[in-house]
Amino acid sequence: MKHKIIALITLVSFGVISFSQTAPQLGKDPVSKVIAAMKLEEKASLVVGMGMRMNFPTNEMPGGTVVGQTQELVPGAAGTTCTIPRLGIPSMVVADGPAGLRISPTRPGDDATYYATAFPVGTLLASTWDVDLVNSVGKAMGNEVLEYGVDVILGPGLNIHRNPLCGRNFEYYSEDPFVTGNIAAAMVNGIESNGVGTSIKHYAANNAETNRNSLNTIVSQRALREIYLEGFGIAVKEAQPWTVMSSYNLINGTYAPENYDLITKVLKNDWGFKGYVMTDWFGGRDAAAIVAAGNDLLMPGRPDQKEAIIKAVNEGKLDVKDLDRNVEKILNIILQTPRFKGYKYSNKPDLKTHAQVTRQAASEGMILLKNNNAALPFPQEVKKIAAFGNTSYEIITGGTGSGDVNEAYSVALVEGLQNAGYTVNENLQALYTAYLKAAKEGRERSRGFMMGSVPVSELAIGDDITTSMVNVTDAAIITIGRNSGEGRDRKAEEGDFYLTSTEKDLIKSVCTAYHAKDKKVIVILNIGGVVETASWKDLSDAILLAWQGGQETGNSIADILCGNVNPSGKLASTFPLKYDDVSSAKNFPGKVIGETPQPSEESGGIMAAFMRPRDSEVTYEEGIYVGYRYYNTFNVPVSYEFGYGLSYTTFEYSGLKLSSRRFGKSITATVTVKNTGNVAGKEVVELYLAAPAVRLDKPESELKGFAKTKLLQPGESQTLTFVLDNWSLASFDPVSSSWISDAGTYTVKIGASSKDIRQTATFSLGKNITVKKESIALVPQVEINELKP
Ligand code: BGC
Repeated sequence: MKHKIIALITLVSFGVISFSQTAPQLGKDPVSKVIAAMKLEEKASLVVGMGMRMNFPTNEMPGGTVVGQTQELVPGAAGTTCTIPRLGIPSMVVADGPAGLRISPTRPGDDATYYATAFPVGTLLASTWDVDLVNSVGKAMGNEVLEYGVDVILGPGLNIHRNPLCGRNFEYYSEDPFVTGNIAAAMVNGIESNGVGTSIKHYAANNAETNRNSLNTIVSQRALREIYLEGFGIAVKEAQPWTVMSSYNLINGTYAPENYDLITKVLKNDWGFKGYVMTDWFGGRDAAAIVAAGNDLLMPGRPDQKEAIIKAVNEGKLDVKDLDRNVEKILNIILQTPRFKGYKYSNKPDLKTHAQVTRQAASEGMILLKNNNAALPFPQEVKKIAAFGNTSYEIITGGTGSGDVNEAYSVALVEGLQNAGYTVNENLQALYTAYLKAAKEGRERSRGFMMGSVPVSELAIGDDITTSMVNVTDAAIITIGRNSGEGRDRKAEEGDFYLTSTEKDLIKSVCTAYHAKDKKVIVILNIGGVVETASWKDLSDAILLAWQGGQETGNSIADILCGNVNPSGKLASTFPLKYDDVSSAKNFPGKVIGETPQPSEESGGIMAAFMRPRDSEVTYEEGIYVGYRYYNTFNVPVSYEFGYGLSYTTFEYSGLKLSSRRFGKSITATVTVKNTGNVAGKEVVELYLAAPAVRLDKPESELKGFAKTKLLQPGESQTLTFVLDNWSLASFDPVSSSWISDAGTYTVKIGASSKDIRQTATFSLGKNITVKKESIALVPQVEINELKP
């Protein structure tokens, strides 16, 4: 008997037998009890994800490989957390984001399909300026997350459009943090209303893709707080997302996931974030430092990270209390997941209904940039259309990389036109189809990990074709396409930011031929980021900025062209005259400072994709003067300004009233908008505030409110209300680390764009105020020679 007891004690102490019936269980026992019962090894395995299958072949691993382990609970998901059955802790499945759920559409040995809806890209959604609409997109997207058995979607993405060349701008919303934060909050609330989680990313100042894993971003505290952190702050305060994803880059010398100031001081202490923080995939270098910083989860997780954490605790280099704190954050979210609750997902979301959601959302965020002599909507007489441009036949629904969704189908522009009852010229269609087919044969399929195919250069169309087309069609459309994505920035070159000479010649030739016969030409921009327009925009009659509208893009464009939908999108990022006019042009994407040997960029290797060890840095010398804050303060002319967009109708603004002439705790502004045209339409109304520059320099004005009217019938009016609170007046003072407002006169400007101001009113602030003191955090180690007006 004595021997038996000793044997049993030995087995238990070596963990061979566990008394699962007596161990505390997550959900039944308090989280604190579960943590108290966890062994160090279990804690470490919970904060380090399980691993991931890298499905792509690389030079290093030609057959693809698995890093760590993977359970493939949902094939194609980006990662899972570890399960600890002894304590009743299940895995959590996380998958990309942000334009829809990214999972494998097919599974070996399974006839069923698992397609997800490709919704419009983030930039388009922000261009709707409609938080209710974005919320409804989020609801539909979140339903797919739930019904495909995923717990957290890795989105939305909300980095600021600091520079038009950032390869992932399409995933992000705007150059303005107020638009960014409010659209993101609406998206998070919509998705999470399904009982699943989001991960707002990439926190923070991840504004370039070049050397993304090792770029040190040197930026002032003021620019961080007002521009790069603010959108995240709004989203956290208004929506409390389940999770936040830290970014790859360093901020003022420290990797984001290892950055205690960024994660614990700002996100958790200053803003009160309650969920957990995860790294971007393989982000950060030092696992123990990541844990200590308050970055709760390391994804997708590598076995060596787990070992490093255990070692650091055992050697007294990492306080186990830090580990416990992170474990608690993760467990608190696991408790909310559908997987923990045992939700029986259907694998059958209502894709048909969601296709309608994406079709409508896309048409609401497309922007009419030009419409001379009411070229659009096409009048009844226009029935036959010549569709020029490769992209008319091969629509771009979204960008490349982890943000790419596996949708069941996509609607090309020509299909959308046909669905709307137009006849698309077949000869021209045959010419393009044959050209595209031939150009794609023998072409390099992909330019490496996560990158899309090499684009087919625009078909050169001679004058003979345009003149023959004009005789047999009523109008012409020219679609110009651009795509970009993760791991690579765009270039200020022809074929990317600038149009190629073939594209410009095409526009010229078609316009000359069609205008000679008094027929209209429409240019459609099917792009994910800003391009140069100034040198060619005078040529065509109309320009529709369609962005990348998800799987129904062709139908959404056609809805606008035929007039079923009156365009109501407006620009959430400026279109400058030329690249050199961008305030960060000389500081983008940064410079290489290290001499570390490089894996070949074209090799498509994991090292190139995730862990490129090339030390580089960038200094945000433009400070807070990003986008319209720069153009409008420094009087730099632009091609299309922030907030701009046309409609098929006209609107009159009147009766701006402020609730008071003196600012107390808040001020309410009301303004009436009337549809003065002939067709029903919606109008985005923008509130800018110009503040006195006393202790701090100030931009000419800043967006502090926006609203979209309902669909107003001709002659109908709506009164809109905006509330300005303490925060609306304040700027961040790095000396006192607080948000402050100066006494003086403030001007409220109600505009149809940042330049088209229709109504103004003033109020005064009687004395200087401090709105909130924040942690002293993220202090740059070098002096930054920042731009000042
Ligand atoms: C991207 C993230 C993405 C993650 C998982 C990373 O390469 O930067 O946005 O969520 O991969 O796929």
